[in-house]
Amino acid sequence: MEVIIQPTPNQLTVIASEIIRDALLKKPNLVLGLATGSTPIGLYKALVKMHREENLDFSKVTTFNLDEYIGIPIEHPQSYHTFMSEHFFEYVNIPTENQHIPQNTTDNYEKFCISYEEAIVSAGGIDIQVLGIGTDGHIGFNEAGSSLSSRTRIKTLSSSTLKANAMHFDGQINAVPEMAITMGIGTIMDAKRCLLLASGDAKSGAIAKAVEGPITAMVPASILQMHPKTTFIIDEAAASKLEEIEYYKRSYANMKKLMSQNL
Ligand code: GLP
Repeated sequence: MEVIIQPTPNQLTVIASEIIRDALLKKPNLVLGLATGSTPIGLYKALVKMHREENLDFSKVTTFNLDEYIGIPIEHPQSYHTFMSEHFFEYVNIPTENQHIPQNTTDNYEKFCISYEEAIVSAGGIDIQVLGIGTDGHIGFNEAGSSLSSRTRIKTLSSSTLKANAMHFDGQINAVPEMAITMGIGTIMDAKRCLLLASGDAKSGAIAKAVEGPITAMVPASILQMHPKTTFIIDEAAASKLEEIEYYKRSYANMKKLMSQNL
């Protein structure tokens, strides 16, 4: 597990976008797991810029989004379908048939969830999974108490998530859908690499628990301690409750030095 601490949220997006660009240049048919929320918006902007200015080609890329609300149409301004087209899909050349977001209108959710898992496997598995984190440590919509080996399924949102997401629904907590389809924690753990982005003071408690606390279903992101290749890319504010800040910074500086010597 690597923890990269940067002074500002903007620098997180630079690092994350460069990791994705390098991976994409090595593997044009990269399979990306994507997240929504305010945190990855800068990352999508940076990737769009690379597409425009450096001709970064997404034409062979396949994507799988983590989650989608149940109970609002996909055309709803706050659906994750709308979010992804407004922030990313409209501006890059990922073929529509390669873009996967959980379907919230199916009449057979169980069958759909199985087919979502199968589609990930038949695409060759997720190469890089982008993650945000909830203030309570949830990833995707895997709320506290989620099975650490869960697969794609339906979850009811916790009251803290409903409260946090109300700002996207004009502050109306009652307008936030109470249920969602989400990749499971086991699904996320199968990704070859995870990049978890977090910024701001509000995330500092969740980051400290996820990185340095015990592994527990009560903090779903803590399972990433068991993942062979996870990078937490966080700003100073989100890092502020970590105990080993000095170590993470020194360790990243050493890795950077080593990499530049090898080039
Ligand atoms: C929602 C999403 C998560 C996201 C989290 C935090 O619950 N399902 O994938 O990580 O919100 O969002 P934000 O980045 O806006 O803080």
